[in-house]
Amino acid sequence: MPNQTLKVFVTRRLPEPVETRLAELFDVTLSDSDQPISPDALAQAMKTADVIVPTLGDRIDSRMLGQAGEQLKLIANYGAGFDHIDVATARQRGIAVSNTPGVLTDDTADMTMALILSVPRRLKEGAGMMASGDWHGWSPMALMGHRIGGKRLGILGMGRIGQAVARRALAFGLQVHYHNRRRLHTETEQALGARYWDSLDQMLARVDILSINAPHTPATFHLINARRLKLMKPTAYIINTARGEIVDENALTRALRSGDIAGAGLDVYEHGHAVNPRLKELPNVLLLPHMGSATEEGRLEMGEKVIINIKTFADGHRPPDLVVP
Ligand code: DGY
Repeated sequence: MPNQTLKVFVTRRLPEPVETRLAELFDVTLSDSDQPISPDALAQAMKTADVIVPTLGDRIDSRMLGQAGEQLKLIANYGAGFDHIDVATARQRGIAVSNTPGVLTDDTADMTMALILSVPRRLKEGAGMMASGDWHGWSPMALMGHRIGGKRLGILGMGRIGQAVARRALAFGLQVHYHNRRRLHTETEQALGARYWDSLDQMLARVDILSINAPHTPATFHLINARRLKLMKPTAYIINTARGEIVDENALTRALRSGDIAGAGLDVYEHGHAVNPRLKELPNVLLLPHMGSATEEGRLEMGEKVIINIKTFADGHRPPDLVVP
């Protein structure tokens, strides 16, 4: 049932079918820009809209929530991660927050695997050689990387995406190790062939590849710092498709430059798109522009989730993907 009296404000362009459906169902204000909205414009919208649909670039902090109008009742985030929203304050103010989990799990795990396969095998250097015309034929010693099969993969954060990475890793012959707030059920561990480490430090000292798949929370901020990077093998690689803030980016840059670790594949950065320029210079570092969930299918499904969350809420029920602070 359309609920065209519900005022829904979308902060930036979304895939067209998602915008069309939102417009059919609600009194929606869409954006005509693919750039993040300014904090002032967002704060202004929060004074009149019943529902806000932000994305990960929109910081919604306690100050902004404090200025929101009484009518604002739902923040239906277009994205799984919600570390840009002060969920605890939203809850205190009676504003529900929902997200879009599940539908980007496989796409993000695929991208993680792509980096796991690309960095030790030096794809960036090989592609660069082809692009610059510097390849003069096969050679026995050119661009030797490291074999993936048989190596130890440590997964930091064994939620949906971590487990999807583990399933893929198993098929490539990697030995899966993991560290997580909670240990998985024995059957799940067995199915994934995964070994649990209560101590992150101990796991880091043993793995050949570290894949970060945890959410960004106060507890995971800078979990990978200078001290922990020193625990890792100098032959180890770090892959991060989760959130940049989990890694101290300056410490990582120093470790990569000094050879304390062998390489990195990153899709996310500590300071958004302001990537440390020194990282860009390194041949053993493959950088991607936060594209882990960027498939047409995934982005449409994220939109469908947003719509279901708003619609359920409008019908007076609990949105299926309500985030609990
Ligand atoms: C999310 O939804 O949190 C992802 O990081 C977007 O790719």
